[in-house]
Amino acid sequence: MKAYTTEVALSDLDADLVAVGLYEGDELSEPLGSTAGAADASADFKSQVIVYPGHPERVVVIGLGKKEDFTAEKARVIGAVAQKALKQVKGEALAWMLPDAPEGIEPGAIAAALVEGAGFSAFEFDRYKSGSDGEEAPPSLKAVEINTDQDIAAMVKVGEVVANSGNRARYLQSLPANVATPEYLAGRAREIADAHEKVTVEVMDRAAIVKAGMGGLQAVSKGGEDVEPRLITLKYTGKGSGEKLGLVGKSVTFDTGGISIKPSAGMHEMKMDMSGGAAVLEAVNAIAELDLALDIIAVLPSTENMPSGTALKPGDIITQLNGKTVEVTNTDAEGRLILADALVHCAREGADRLIDLATLTGAVLIGLGSTYAALISNDDELAAQVAEAADRSGELVWRLPLHDEYKDLTKGEITDLVNASAQRKAGTIYAGSFLEEFTEGKPWAHLDIAGTAWDTGREYWGKGPTGFGVHLLVALARELSK
Ligand code: BES
Ligand code: MN
Ligand code: ZN
Repeated sequence: MKAYTTEVALSDLDADLVAVGLYEGDELSEPLGSTAGAADASADFKSQVIVYPGHPERVVVIGLGKKEDFTAEKARVIGAVAQKALKQVKGEALAWMLPDAPEGIEPGAIAAALVEGAGFSAFEFDRYKSGSDGEEAPPSLKAVEINTDQDIAAMVKVGEVVANSGNRARYLQSLPANVATPEYLAGRAREIADAHEKVTVEVMDRAAIVKAGMGGLQAVSKGGEDVEPRLITLKYTGKGSGEKLGLVGKSVTFDTGGISIKPSAGMHEMKMDMSGGAAVLEAVNAIAELDLALDIIAVLPSTENMPSGTALKPGDIITQLNGKTVEVTNTDAEGRLILADALVHCAREGADRLIDLATLTGAVLIGLGSTYAALISNDDELAAQVAEAADRSGELVWRLPLHDEYKDLTKGEITDLVNASAQRKAGTIYAGSFLEEFTEGKPWAHLDIAGTAWDTGREYWGKGPTGFGVHLLVALARELSK
């Protein structure tokens, strides 16, 4: 999907569908207002009426609600509403008459959000429908044109990159585990590095992982006999001086639970246990495409979590990359074991601050549902920056606490740590407290996206994958590169 700005009269727009927003108390301008059917237009948020003024052929009037209540997030929602209307008339090009921004909101932020909403909403995953020859059909939404007299082309470009990158992450999330293996993700990382001069990639295979002493990744991957693990490191040099931001994404390409096997109902959805990695990969791609001025070190620990004759067993003791020992009381708490090594690796590669994204606990779904990801951090400044980027992106986070009493739960009897407690207390915080042991004294923020990576039902994402994290990371990187 391409997005761009134009500055022409409404009657000169030739998109398949032109969208016009209507705030409460406002009236449609002429000649639109006297077009047949225009009297049915309503300002109720998300309401829609299509009218046929001749030039342009079709206009959808979409209700925006009260102007003072309008937000970028609402713009994302009506961006999706417009895309669905475009799809109904089988169009591929959408134009927006940019609505006036309410006080305190940049017009560019509204424009970007309209593009994002439309772009996300157009995502389809159809390569496995027969007749598609294993190829993804070309996207039904080809262009979003923002008609405005304001100088906001740069923000419209951000909207385009965010939407396309988010959708690329959603594509990776959707791929089944027999396709999206650790090596497949490594291939995507190489593709990103090949496409951008400022990005380099390094991929470690099983032997290298074992040799490096990444005991967590080694242990979790032992059950996968023919699917090999990978430790993928992408580096983006956008500045070459100043802060190096570390990003770590959980990339379990299928989580059966291992010997502590999960119930079969719903297990197929565990192909999405690489959502954190998908978000990090595509965020790096987006950051490179926007040529942002900061450095990134991104690490994806990737493996399947399988039960087998060679699998990790409950009670096994492992040594993580930083030397800490862990008794693995539950092989289904695998994410923290591979993230532990990846965080240490990321810090050793030079990251000054660390952010990890992981579909880590079912408990976060119970606590926060699909509306907020959990944020856990050892640093108030970083936590505030992440929360701010979350608000701007609509990928919301809610901070949960750390406390020594939670830390006590993670201590082992015969080892430094245990990876899961029988008590099941504060499951999401437990996991965060465990991870904190591997942050090498760096400021660190952990995002548990198990509830927000899939099936949020939000207007512009619908069911299935969301690419949660791509937009948030791009928003943060844009802020840090200022
Ligand atoms: N990948 C799962 C968490 C998950 C649950 C992701 C639901 C997406 C949707 C994770 O590896 C896991 O199995 N966590 C366990 C931890 C427990 C054994 C301490 C959980 O949450 O049940
Ligand atoms: Mn698990
Ligand atoms: Zn998992």
